[in-house]
Amino acid sequence: MPLLDIRNLSVSIPTSEGEVHAVRAVSLEIERGEVHGVIGESGCGKTMTGMAVLGLAPKGARIVADRFNFDGEDLRERAAQLRGRRIGMIAQDPAAALNPVLSIARQMDDVIRAHRDLPHRGRHAEAVELLAATGLPDPERVLRSYPHQLSGGMQQRVVIAQALATGAEFLIADEPTTALDVSVGAQVLALLRKLVTERGLTVLMITHDMDVIAEACDRATVLYAGRSVETGPVDAVLQSPGHPYTRALLAALPDAAPLGARLAAIEGSIPPPRSAIAGCAFASRCPQALQQCAATPPPGRNRAAHRWLCHLPEDAA
Ligand SMILES: Nc1ncnc2c1ncn2[C@@H]1O[C@H](COP(=O)(O)OP(=O)(O)OP(=O)(O)O)[C@@H](O)[C@H]1O
Ligand SMILES: [Mg+2]
Repeated sequence: MPLLDIRNLSVSIPTSEGEVHAVRAVSLEIERGEVHGVIGESGCGKTMTGMAVLGLAPKGARIVADRFNFDGEDLRERAAQLRGRRIGMIAQDPAAALNPVLSIARQMDDVIRAHRDLPHRGRHAEAVELLAATGLPDPERVLRSYPHQLSGGMQQRVVIAQALATGAEFLIADEPTTALDVSVGAQVLALLRKLVTERGLTVLMITHDMDVIAEACDRATVLYAGRSVETGPVDAVLQSPGHPYTRALLAALPDAAPLGARLAAIEGSIPPPRSAIAGCAFASRCPQALQQCAATPPPGRNRAAHRWLCHLPEDAA
């Protein structure tokens, strides 16, 4: 049984201008011990999917799913209890996640005290151990610091240490390296991978960056307009993508273009989140679209554990 098991999740948000379909049909199966990347263009529902798992969808949001389970528990009832105990979160901007007027010692202690029954001394030792586990070289000095005295990479390590302090085994990392320099971001990804191995963590890694998928993930799911359109082992998804949208994302990578050439952006834009979608949401932008694509929902295709939704026959992929 997958640790996170989502089948056909939709999240609809009522607004004064009508209902926003932030997530339309997302399926995700994440096994224990894997780093699972979720990738797609801005507005495709990556963050809202993560928020729904955390029980943090906006007030009034309607959450519907055929299955929405964490370790066999229904997240529609249990998300708030699981959050901060078994499910943790690493946000995009570590500076915003930390309180600027409190020392790191105080902020680490607050988290440890909330989750562990330890005397003051034991909590201090735990804070030192957790900060060291995230690769911070001088934990005692970090504890005496305030957030602004630390670099972005150090701040993100503190945020990761806080997530570990809760004892959470499943972490949702929403663009955890976007606010960091490329080299520092790569170090943070390497750290997450190391923690997955050493502590048996499972990570849902949200990103719009194929390099993050290639470098840090075991399996990946591609979202388009609120739907999961392709999922599978990273090697299969990157090397023989089944969905034309995934191929377009890969073709848009700077590496695919000769040096100095214009970046191949995908033409067109995602359907507005208030619109109804009859067939394949990518049809209007798809260079290989067939007549039936706009009106008829695409069937599932697969090569072993690599699955996607498309009208094109498998050998066209
Ligand atoms: N509170 C809200 N009220 C109304 N619509 C919302 C709300 N939050 C998100 N949305 C809409 O839901 C859709 C999905 O948003 P989401 O933030 O999940 O996208 P994303 O994939 O994380 O994008 P990005 O890469 O820009 O972070 C978007 O159309 C967004 O405008
Ligand atoms: Mg987002």
